[in-house]
Amino acid sequence: MVRTLLLLALAAPLAAAAQSSKLALGETVFNSTCKSCHDTGKTDNDAPQLSHREDWQTRLKSGRDALYRNSIDGLKGYFEMPARGGNPRLSDDEVKTAVDYILERAGAR
Ligand code: HEC
Repeated sequence: MVRTLLLLALAAPLAAAAQSSKLALGETVFNSTCKSCHDTGKTDNDAPQLSHREDWQTRLKSGRDALYRNSIDGLKGYFEMPARGGNPRLSDDEVKTAVDYILERAGAR
């Protein structure tokens, strides 16, 4: 029983990875590294929240590449966005997929 559960626990992430789209990878990165600031469940927070579509639409006006760049290098505006969300182990592509996930979920075009 314990072994079966253990196998299931190991198999689930593998199966998810096998069928994962880039967006799913973005979601994983977001949940592990970005969510603590960008989806706090509070109405007001320093970081633009996932649910605040207008915020992302405004930021997207500077171009998707600028958002990628600022997420990778960090951005010190009024508040601070740490480089790679503070996780130096993330690759450029992983950070970018998280940005894509944010924009998709926020519905910013
Ligand atoms: C410690 C909190 C924190 C974490 C963790 C964090 N961010 Fe941010 N992020 C911020 C803040 C604060 C801002 C707003 C900075 C400003 O404009 O003053 C921001 C802004 C942004 C922006 C807008 C940049 C722009 O050019 O307007 C993007 C995109 C972004 N974050 C993506 C991410 C991604 C992707 C992750 C995870 C890999 C992440 N953030 C993790 C705090 C965080």
